[in-house]
Amino acid sequence: MTAEKAGFDHFMLKEIHEQPKAYRDTMRGRISEDGRSVVLPELKITAEQLKGINRVHIVACGTALHAGLVGKNVIENLVRIPVETDVASEYRYRSPIITPDTLVIVVSQSGETADTLAALREAQRCGARVLAITNVVGSSVAREADDVIITLAGPEIAVASTKAYSSQLIAFFLFGLYWAQTIGSKNESEVAHVLAAMQALPEQVEKVLAQAEVIKGVAESISHHSSLFFIGRGIDYAVAMEGSLKLKEISYIHSEAYAAGELKHGTLALIEEGTPVIALLTQEDVYEKMLSNIKETKARGADVLGIINEGHEVEVAKSVDRQFAIPRTLPLLTPALSVVPLQLLSYYASLALGHDVDKPRNLAKSVTVE
Ligand code: AGP
Repeated sequence: MTAEKAGFDHFMLKEIHEQPKAYRDTMRGRISEDGRSVVLPELKITAEQLKGINRVHIVACGTALHAGLVGKNVIENLVRIPVETDVASEYRYRSPIITPDTLVIVVSQSGETADTLAALREAQRCGARVLAITNVVGSSVAREADDVIITLAGPEIAVASTKAYSSQLIAFFLFGLYWAQTIGSKNESEVAHVLAAMQALPEQVEKVLAQAEVIKGVAESISHHSSLFFIGRGIDYAVAMEGSLKLKEISYIHSEAYAAGELKHGTLALIEEGTPVIALLTQEDVYEKMLSNIKETKARGADVLGIINEGHEVEVAKSVDRQFAIPRTLPLLTPALSVVPLQLLSYYASLALGHDVDKPRNLAKSVTVE
């Protein structure tokens, strides 16, 4: 077992460090040699069919759903088609509006999650085409979906999903670009621009991982708290939700993710002297708004860690207690970098508390009951 961990203390830490490889493997062969288009020969859906899709439902559970929340931003931004996201265990009980022009995307690392599989079957029963994003070739989800994009994250052993989530993001970037180039909502040079930024991600993750010690220090300090908040706007809010789930799952510390602008509608009442707040501010278009949301928490005594873009260190230092800078990328791609410090935060917090990082209490890697 120790050998399988390749020298790491836990599978989770190993899998966090495998993300640069998972990104490269998931992109390999799916970007044209000239870097100007996405190639997805595994898709059976035709260009004509893609042109006819007028709504998307993304359905999944847990971390896979959080990847879907990023996917919603990606597809709406690149393709300009409305996307709804849904918890798989709720989907088929709420009579979702599914037409033959609806594309349902199910996301599942294992491809065996019972609720996700049931949602897939319900979508097909109602006449929708289903695209699966999964990490396991030959899984139930992969076998039953109409189209499949396999993430090449490699086996994920730790219950807390890390490299599978981030590879799902890469799959959404690729599929969003593929769809955009097919219907012409983005031109060739716009697609090439995003692809170039995507190809830089593996090396940028390596740079983030090289700063793990900074996060270790923060994790040790938050491990003494019983409650904390993750805040962000837009795509940062989606990442905040993943950071919060990861922390709850393996450190057992209560946390909540909030859209930063929503705090003042009730949640600010919970912020008191020393409450840790993890604030994501990677989105330039809401940067100033985020700074003022951070100030609202600081004024109530919050202890703020900012996850920021490189280059903002000096300015942000006035508003936060600690900061962690991620390398510059396109706004849409930031989740592939900003989630990494959050994964490390939960890992080191769990470690500091002496928990079983790879096998948290009450949880299974794959939930095959509804
Ligand atoms: C992730 O850290 C969790 N263990 C959990 O939320 C998981 O993502 C969820 O159960 C879905 O699993 P799947 O991707 O295999 O369908």
